[in-house]
Amino acid sequence: MQTVRWGIMGLGKIARRFAEDLSLTTDNQLVAVASRTRENAQQFAKQYGAKYWFDQFEALACCPEVDIVYIATPHTDHYPLTLLALQQGKHVLCEKPMGINAKEVVAMQQLAAEKRLFLMEALWTRYMPSYQVMLEWLPQIGIIKQLRADFGFAARVSQEHRLMNKAKGGGALLDIGIYPVFLALQVLGIPENISATATLLSSGIDAACQIDFDYPQQGAKALLTCTILQDTASEAVVIGENGNIHMAKPWHSWGAVTLQLTGKPPLTFTPEKRGNGLWLETNAAAQAIRTGKLEEPLMPHAVSLQIAHVLDAIRGQIGLRYSQD
Ligand SMILES: NC(=O)c1ccc[n+]([C@@H]2O[C@H](COP(=O)([O-])OP(=O)(O)OC[C@H]3O[C@@H](n4cnc5c(N)ncnc54)[C@H](OP(=O)(O)O)[C@@H]3O)[C@@H](O)[C@H]2O)c1
Repeated sequence: MQTVRWGIMGLGKIARRFAEDLSLTTDNQLVAVASRTRENAQQFAKQYGAKYWFDQFEALACCPEVDIVYIATPHTDHYPLTLLALQQGKHVLCEKPMGINAKEVVAMQQLAAEKRLFLMEALWTRYMPSYQVMLEWLPQIGIIKQLRADFGFAARVSQEHRLMNKAKGGGALLDIGIYPVFLALQVLGIPENISATATLLSSGIDAACQIDFDYPQQGAKALLTCTILQDTASEAVVIGENGNIHMAKPWHSWGAVTLQLTGKPPLTFTPEKRGNGLWLETNAAAQAIRTGKLEEPLMPHAVSLQIAHVLDAIRGQIGLRYSQD
């Protein structure tokens, strides 16, 4: 099988988890890494066995031995760095959210299509075993009436950290609210009405959001919450006519999932944890490239664009604007 040669741009927390997980896959190789600083790039390359390190993102984009670039920078850099990599003929796996807004996502996807290069948003939840089981069980609960999903943690980081910094796309919605939004869109589709409220900090970022999606035609609602102020239950439940599916914390990754049909004993699937969970999306992206696909079937461009449009609509309601808007 053809080995897929990876480069990573932005060497922070998720990049480390990604590099660790690459070693759990076969026929993938970490070839090059790029950081804003020489020290970080050198140290990271040494630790994870990358042949090349760069202290400029442009240099990695031009590295002839790299097939695909994993973009692991703060949200605001996803757009410019994806364009940079695509311009140099590289495929791209870009961290979530793909762009700050739908306008950026459209431009990224247009360039990938023009260049006939692969582009995918790294929404790892889509590839997690419990998530697949939830989707398989879904038809059994009948018409869905309600979905509740929450994601919250107390962010113990400095005011300069990307999560708190508006200039770097900080705030709860784009960082973790994207997961409940994604779940609701996949399970219930595009809502007819969206209503959202948020706790905005003096820095201008949203520390917490409450989002309701309304589906009057099927009499369903999605009640979604996210916060970076407290550790919360971080569970999800999908309630249908015949029962419910409960996704335990952390529902977006390694949590167990339980099917409870009315009058029947519960059935629980507990995933066997392996690595950080990022190797599943990595394998999917690599296989798409090997087989000449420009989109990954489980996470196609249309899904990323839909998410971006809905996040824009929510931000419109809570009055959260970034300079990119
Ligand atoms: N942490 C998670 O669990 C997680 C999970 C899923 C997705 N993600 C996504 O992955 C992305 C990165 O998250 P992270 O938690 O890894 O962030 P992080 O720890 O802050 O790392 C981001 C890295 O990007 C580089 N960078 C480039 N331009 C930067 C700038 N202007 N300001 C600050 N750093 C800059 C830095 O690496 P250099 O110093 O090497 O340049 C920094 O270490 C985010 O978009 C997030 O949504 C994170």
